[in-house]
Amino acid sequence: MTTTNKLGREGAAGEAATREVGSAGSPGGDSTADTKHASGGGRSAASARSDAPHGDDTEQAVIYVGMDLGTSRTAIACSNGVRESLPSLIGYPKDVVARKLLGEEILFGKDVIERRLSLDVYRPLEKGVIKGSGNPADSDSKGANGSADADASDHEAAKNMRAAKELVKYAIRMARAPADALVHCVIGAPAEASIKNHQALLEAAREVIDSVMICSEPFAVAYGMDVLTDALVIDIGAGTADLCRMHGTMPDENDQVTIDHAGDRIDSILEDLVRKAHPTVQFSRQMITDAKEKFATVDDSQGRVMVRWPVNGKPTDVDITKQMIEACHSIVPPIVEALGRLVASFDPEFQAKLRNNVILGGGGSQIRGLGDAISAYMDEHLGGGKVVHVEEPVYAGANGTLKIAKDMPPEFWEQLR
Ligand SMILES: Nc1ncnc2c1ncn2[C@@H]1O[C@H](COP(=O)(O)OP(=O)(O)OP(=O)(O)O)[C@@H](O)[C@H]1O
Ligand SMILES: [Mg+2]
Repeated sequence: MTTTNKLGREGAAGEAATREVGSAGSPGGDSTADTKHASGGGRSAASARSDAPHGDDTEQAVIYVGMDLGTSRTAIACSNGVRESLPSLIGYPKDVVARKLLGEEILFGKDVIERRLSLDVYRPLEKGVIKGSGNPADSDSKGANGSADADASDHEAAKNMRAAKELVKYAIRMARAPADALVHCVIGAPAEASIKNHQALLEAAREVIDSVMICSEPFAVAYGMDVLTDALVIDIGAGTADLCRMHGTMPDENDQVTIDHAGDRIDSILEDLVRKAHPTVQFSRQMITDAKEKFATVDDSQGRVMVRWPVNGKPTDVDITKQMIEACHSIVPPIVEALGRLVASFDPEFQAKLRNNVILGGGGSQIRGLGDAISAYMDEHLGGGKVVHVEEPVYAGANGTLKIAKDMPPEFWEQLR
C-alpha cells in the first residue's frame, strides 16, 4: 500500500511525495468502537478542528469511510453502518431545455443512465484512475502529437477531474456523516496506479474528506477478509483486473499485477462478436453491458442466452449464447497468465500454497462458472489451482478499505483539510 507523506494541508497536492508503508498495522486490533478521536497529542493537527460537538473542544466525532472508487461502480462502507453503491457516472444537462426538463444542474449514477440522452455524460475514471491523470500501466497518457493534442487532453483531464470531484463528494454525502464530523476515508486504487494517479485522487478528495489514505484494491479485498498470507487475490473490475499476492507482510509492487482485460474489454469483445454473428440486429453498448450483467457465463450447460432486440425496428428474439461464452471466457487466459507470473516469481517452497488459494472478487467475478474455468485453465497451464469467490463482490473492496481505515494509526493518514 502507498500513502502519501504527512504533508501540511497546503503542500500536499503539488508535490509527488509518496512513501511505502512498512507495516500493515495490526489487523486483529479492531478499533471499530473508536469513533471519537482526541485532538492534539498523537493526532494530526488537521483533524484537530475546534468545532467539536456538545461544546467539547477536545473530541470530535470521526466517520470512517471505505471507498471503492471504481471505473464503473463506486461503493462505500462506513463506520456508521451505511453501505451504498452507484454507477460511477456524472451527467450535466446538454442545454436549457434539458435543464428545464431535469430540474437539476448535475445528475449521478443510475439517473445518468436513464436520462443520458439529455446529458453530457462523464465516466471520470478509466482503468481505475482519473482519466488524464496517467494510465496505470503507462504513466504518460497525453497526446504525443504536439501541443494541440496536449491542450485537448488537458481540457478533457480538467473536465474529468471536475466530474471525479463531484463523484467523490456525492459518495461522501451518501455516508450521511453529521455535519461536524471528521471524515477519514481510505480509497482503493488499481494495484499499479502511479504516484501521479494518486495525487489526482487526493485532489478529488480534498474538498470533502479530512484525512485520506490510498491503498491497492486487491490488497483491500484481502485485508477485509482477514486473508493476510498464502493467497492470490484477483479483483475483476470494469477497466482493470488487479492481482495481489499475500504472503504475511505488506505487499509491494512485485506482489501486484494490473491487467487491462476486465469487464469493459469483455463488453467490447461481446459487441464485436454479436455484430458479426447478427449484422441486422440493432443494439447499443449499454444493451450489451446490461445483457452481460444479466447473463454472463462461461458454462454452456446453463441454457440459452436469449435477448429481445430490434431488427428493422421490430423486437426479435436473438440467441447470443455462443458469443456470451466466448467473450466471458476471453478473460481466463490473461488472468491465469498473470497468476502464473506472480506464482513463478515467488519462493518455490510456497508456490503451491498460493496456487491453491486464489480468491476472486469484483463485479466481473460474477460471471457464472468463472472460478471453475480459471481453475481448469490453471490445471492445464500451471499444474493445478483452487479458486474461491468472495462473498460480496460489490462491497468486498469497500469493506476492506473500511477495515484498513479503522485499523491504521494516525501517522499513516494524509491530512487534506
Ligand atoms: N453479474 C455480472 N456478471 C458479470 N459481470 C458483471 C456483473 N455485474 C457487473 N459486472 C461487471 O463488473 C464490472 C464492474 O465491476 P466493479 O464494480 O468491481 O468494477 P469497478 O471497481 O468499477 O472497476 P475498476 O476496478 O476497474 O475500477 C463491469 O464491467 C460490470 O459490467
Ligand atoms: Mg474496482
